[in-house]
Amino acid sequence: MAYDFDTIARDYDRMNHLMTLGLDRCWRRQAVKGLHGHVLDVACGTGDMVLELTKRGCTVTGVDLSEEMMSIAKTKAPATYILGDAEHLPFPDAAFVAVTCAFGVRNFVHLKKGLGEMLRVLKPGGRMVILELATPDSVIIRPFYDFYAKHTIPLLGKWLAGNRTAYAYLPESIERFPKGEDFMQIIKELGAAVVQHKQTFGVCRMYQITKP
Ligand SMILES: C[S@@+](CC[C@H](N)C(=O)[O-])C[C@H]1O[C@@H](n2cnc3c(N)ncnc32)[C@H](O)[C@@H]1O
Repeated sequence: MAYDFDTIARDYDRMNHLMTLGLDRCWRRQAVKGLHGHVLDVACGTGDMVLELTKRGCTVTGVDLSEEMMSIAKTKAPATYILGDAEHLPFPDAAFVAVTCAFGVRNFVHLKKGLGEMLRVLKPGGRMVILELATPDSVIIRPFYDFYAKHTIPLLGKWLAGNRTAYAYLPESIERFPKGEDFMQIIKELGAAVVQHKQTFGVCRMYQITKP
């Protein structure tokens, strides 16, 4: 079952910026570089990726499962917002020149189905950019990351959002999710080319994907 973001929508932006020490904004800014035209932002949430895309002059369609998350997006960034599921996108084949998804794919119930749908609606030659959180590879950084993810983040969730459980879920879901080569293998099986760029010691991965 999909995680219910409606329950944390009100605190999402504040917690997101705090937990990533504001780096989430830099990661999104990096991800939208070189994108133009009509872009689909999948799992748009509260609209921070939409905002970065519109700043670059893109026309954006945002899609998300959570009405509450998108109600915040609507106050922040001009776009067409559609309540919908990434695993059954309500768009024809090859409808977009680019597709983005920031911190969304980890929440898909059927990852390969969602990724396949995102590639289906992308034009041949088009670019898809996925940002996702991950555990760092470095054995030196790893203990610091583990302490922060397993202790600090759930505490911040409890103090600032009154919801320890929701933020204890975060490091667990990051740990379980395929990263690096494992994630790229899934993309390759779907017939697309992919390059990974590690951000901030690899705690965020940017995957740049090209549809043949
Ligand atoms: C961690 S938030 C990311 C929001 C935003 N992209 C950002 O950069 O902050 C994950 C979002 O994915 C959405 N989501 C999860 N599964 C989805 C699905 N199958 N289809 C559409 N949206 C989905 C959730 O509702 C939530 O808004």
